[in-house]
Amino acid sequence: MAKITVGDQTFEVPVDKRLVLAIEDAGVPILHRCGGYARCTTCRVKVTAGEPEKMTETEKTRLQQDPNNLYGKVRLSCQILCEQDMAVEPVMTMHNSDVSDPGKRPEDHITPDPVWTTR
Ligand code: FES
Repeated sequence: MAKITVGDQTFEVPVDKRLVLAIEDAGVPILHRCGGYARCTTCRVKVTAGEPEKMTETEKTRLQQDPNNLYGKVRLSCQILCEQDMAVEPVMTMHNSDVSDPGKRPEDHITPDPVWTTR
C-alpha cells in the first residue's frame, strides 16, 4: 500500500492502482477525458512530494510534444501506478472545468501497454 495525499486528505492505495483512479475513488472529480490513454492530458497532476522516477514512454512523449510545454511541470496520473507515497494536486477537475462529465472511466491497468523509461 502507498499513501497518497491530495489536498488535506491522505488515503492508502494498493501499489498496482492507477493514480488517476486512486484520486477519483477518493472522491476528487479529476478529469480523464481520453479514458486514460495519455492523449488528453486532463488527468495531469502537480506532484509536490514523491514524484516517481519511472515514466511510461507514452507519457514522456505526450508531455514533451505538448504545445504548452508540460514536460517537467506535471505528470499524467493515468500513466502512474501508486507504487510509492506521493502528494499530488490535480489540475483539472469537474469543479474548475467547463465539461459535463470527467470522461470514460480508465481501465484498471495502464493503457496503452506501458513501456517504462525514466523521467
Ligand atoms: S491523458 Fe487522458 S486520461 Fe490521462
